[in-house]
Amino acid sequence: MTVRFYLNGNLVEPDVSPLTRLSDLLRDLYRLIEGPEEQTLILLDGEPVFPHLVPAFHLKGRLVTTYEGFSGTADCEDIETGFEEAHFCPCPIHRPVYTFLVHALLERVSHPEEADTAAAFTGFHPICGGYLSLLDGVRLAARRRFLRHHEQTR
Ligand code: FES
Repeated sequence: MTVRFYLNGNLVEPDVSPLTRLSDLLRDLYRLIEGPEEQTLILLDGEPVFPHLVPAFHLKGRLVTTYEGFSGTADCEDIETGFEEAHFCPCPIHRPVYTFLVHALLERVSHPEEADTAAAFTGFHPICGGYLSLLDGVRLAARRRFLRHHEQTR
């Protein structure tokens, strides 16, 4: 069957079987997943999800954003710069997970407290760059995003 959805802003129409998962499409058809698929997150209609848990036939009309599609956006830049300023450096495999979890957190809470960040990262390990650096990175990213939104509404 053919399923139509938006991948990084572009309409795509792959043929899928009932067993095809989103991760299969991203890895085999679009070459957008590197490393272990169970450690990769994407945004599905703006929410972070693991693509190996999403059946491809559920994608009809939905918006899929991979880290490649998110990179270079102002939202991504807030987070990347926050991480950089806090000297928080996740490895390339886990960078999308950190970035999307922080993005989803900042979409819900503009100035997250430590407990908000801890809750957002529940179940996700490792935090190799250091937990305190992550907290700092989130705080700095939140500040950048808040100031940018504030500037845009002036
Ligand atoms: S192994 Fe990826 S951030 Fe630690």
